[in-house]
Amino acid sequence: MDKLNLAIVGATGMVGRTFLTVLEEMNLPLGNLVLLASERSAGQKVLFQGNEIKVEELTEGSFDRERFQYALFSAGGSISGIYAPVATRNGITVIDNSSQWRMHEEVPLVIPEINRKAIGEHLLISNPNCSTIQSVLPLKVIHDLYQVERVAYTTYQAVSGSGQKGVEDLLGTREGKAPSFYPKIISDNCLPQIDVFLEDGYTKEEQKMIEETRKILDNEKMKVTATCVRVPVLNGHSVAMNVTCKREIDYEELARALASAEGILYYETDYPTARDAAGQDQVLVGRLRKDESLHNSLHLWCVADNVRKGAASNAVQILKSIWEERR
Ligand SMILES: NC(=O)c1ccc[n+]([C@@H]2O[C@H](COP(=O)([O-])OP(=O)(O)OC[C@H]3O[C@@H](n4cnc5c(N)ncnc54)[C@H](OP(=O)(O)O)[C@@H]3O)[C@@H](O)[C@H]2O)c1
Repeated sequence: MDKLNLAIVGATGMVGRTFLTVLEEMNLPLGNLVLLASERSAGQKVLFQGNEIKVEELTEGSFDRERFQYALFSAGGSISGIYAPVATRNGITVIDNSSQWRMHEEVPLVIPEINRKAIGEHLLISNPNCSTIQSVLPLKVIHDLYQVERVAYTTYQAVSGSGQKGVEDLLGTREGKAPSFYPKIISDNCLPQIDVFLEDGYTKEEQKMIEETRKILDNEKMKVTATCVRVPVLNGHSVAMNVTCKREIDYEELARALASAEGILYYETDYPTARDAAGQDQVLVGRLRKDESLHNSLHLWCVADNVRKGAASNAVQILKSIWEERR
């Protein structure tokens, strides 16, 4: 097969539209491109590489292997829960951006720079959570050198991570309107709540970071904790990481390893901000320093474009890997 026939589920959303941008940039040999969304957007026309493509309503009948053999899903967990199995039953390879299948033991959770081999022959592959992707990239470099024993994440997550509704709420509350999506006013504020609270007092976003880190690094025993905070930034997540290792850290060696790692842009002197990450697919890492309060411990800061590397670009990179392996 010399053409990649592809469907995008959730094509009109924030991640869905970014899939199109990234696909254009990566120049994959696309054949059919089928755009699927809810009945609200059916009939809308989307411009891709100079051609107008009509958005179709997602139904069970959408998954016809004669039309496409690959699908990128980004329409939320409940849609993935219903339709990803329909697609795979029909022999279509699905890369799912929602949290629905990430912790399923038969579904690989993939960051291509780290574990592209886990894809194997699977028909359903999950894209990790946005803040997990950008954090685990540098964490893996540290882990390979000094064996991570514990990591504590504190995140500063942009409203684009909640899709269109998050962006509209920030813009609205900046103008003095009442919150339309978040539980409290997000403008000029920080909300230590992302997703719902669980019985143990953590939020679901924090639980995702903890469980997904262990799954990607294939290390059930790693001590991981997180506090996830929504901040009034339009796009780009930031994460402060405090890491304790089993072995003694050589900071010059670590800086060299970070500077040469695939997918990372290392800032030796200056520090990166969320704005620097906009439009990039690399994770920007800086402020590496010794934590003087704990043995074998360090601090690190990382930023990434959550809609690109945290979602669309990572998924398209998985697609590219599969296409190169299987065609
Ligand atoms: N934004 C991020 O940074 C980010 C990062 C990682 C993961 N994610 C995940 O990616 C997914 C989408 O996020 P987003 O930010 O792109 O959200 P969004 O901007 O709200 O877009 C949602 C998309 O899903 C479609 N959709 C909703 N209900 C549907 C239905 N019943 N049938 C078919 N399509 C339906 C929407 O179509 P209509 O236009 O027709 O409503 C739209 O295309 C979520 O699972 C989210 O957790 C997002």
